[in-house]
Amino acid sequence: MPEFCKISFPESDFLPISLECHQSLSEHLTIQNSPVLFGCRTGICGTCLVEVIGDISPPQSEEQEMLETLAPNYPHARLACQLDVKGNVEIRRLKG
Ligand code: FES
Repeated sequence: MPEFCKISFPESDFLPISLECHQSLSEHLTIQNSPVLFGCRTGICGTCLVEVIGDISPPQSEEQEMLETLAPNYPHARLACQLDVKGNVEIRRLKG
């Protein structure tokens, strides 16, 4: 049985969505269902910068370097295209 994770977008008009855990967000979030925007989808452009609260794996070193450059003052900043969602999460878009 696949496990489902709830992805919610507080402070936005978008309704929470339910996704099978460990799916790629960049394949499932669209401009219709979320406030998150994507560009490269490979972790190099920074378009998908968001703040994430919830159950996710820590960033790999390349993502970590990007986050230190793009959002040094946001401890919960992540690149949405690089996220491995393991449980329910709240995602807020960060304007970099
Ligand atoms: S979409 Fe380019 S870094 Fe995530």
